[in-house]
Amino acid sequence: MTGLLSVSGLSINFGGLAALSDLDLEVAEGAIVALIGPNGAGKTTVFNVLSGLYHPSRGRVTFRGDDLLALAPYAIARRGVARTFQNTEVFRRLSALDNVLIGRHAHIKGGVLGGALALPRVRSEEARARRDARALLDLVGLGDSANVEAASLPLGHQKRLEMARALAAEPTLLLLDEPAGGLNPTETRELMGLIRRLRDERKLTILLVEHDMQLVMGISDRVAVLDHGRKIAEGKPGEISRDPAVIEAYLGAPE
Ligand SMILES: Nc1ncnc2c1ncn2[C@@H]1O[C@H](COP(=O)(O)OP(=O)(O)OP(=O)(O)O)[C@@H](O)[C@H]1O
Ligand SMILES: [Mg+2]
Repeated sequence: MTGLLSVSGLSINFGGLAALSDLDLEVAEGAIVALIGPNGAGKTTVFNVLSGLYHPSRGRVTFRGDDLLALAPYAIARRGVARTFQNTEVFRRLSALDNVLIGRHAHIKGGVLGGALALPRVRSEEARARRDARALLDLVGLGDSANVEAASLPLGHQKRLEMARALAAEPTLLLLDEPAGGLNPTETRELMGLIRRLRDERKLTILLVEHDMQLVMGISDRVAVLDHGRKIAEGKPGEISRDPAVIEAYLGAPE
């Protein structure tokens, strides 16, 4: 496995708060890596830096060897980094299918004008985009909900819809921020199967933030642990669950 994403010395401050301090993280191609840690540890902040929303105070981030910090969010997405959000962000009034089509937007050539003129090439690309979007809905188990308004889907389905929308951009690296948040144990098990399939069948690399330890320990190749913006441990799931520093970060120091 070769390094796909490489983070080194990453630091970001908000006023007096060091949200991330000198973070190093390597994500190998084809790996499932989990980023865990207590509330406020800086996990979502890592994703916000990786997707170009936050600019770090220090550090380097390379993706396939390119400097990611020099790129705007849309350019990062085009390079192959897609994400979901901790607070699910679907377009509530649009159908599930249209939500996925929006995720695909960057790949449809011809643009608005071409669409308005109904150029044949654009029309055939649109037809292909719709086919692909339906296939993605099938993949995430929402094939029967293509025409359902996103707002009326249950939370677990909205989360999968958001995954389908991220996948529509044809990413190499998928960032999932608490994909199991709010899911019941059955839904979480199904989600684990889906994440595994994305890696095994679609050859995606996955970096996920998650509090559900069954999911984290069940599917991750590696786990990195953040606490107060610092990486306090990293290793295989079995090593992490026995690590005293990790246990202390989660349970708090003894009185
Ligand atoms: N835009 C911002 N402005 C100010 N402070 C911020 C901003 N974004 C994050 N923070 C702060 O940085 C710290 C890390 O936040 P972050 O959202 O990354 O935590 P997290 O590990 O994702 O936590 P959770 O598990 O609760 O989602 C928190 O103290 C948070 O309040
Ligand atoms: Mg978060």
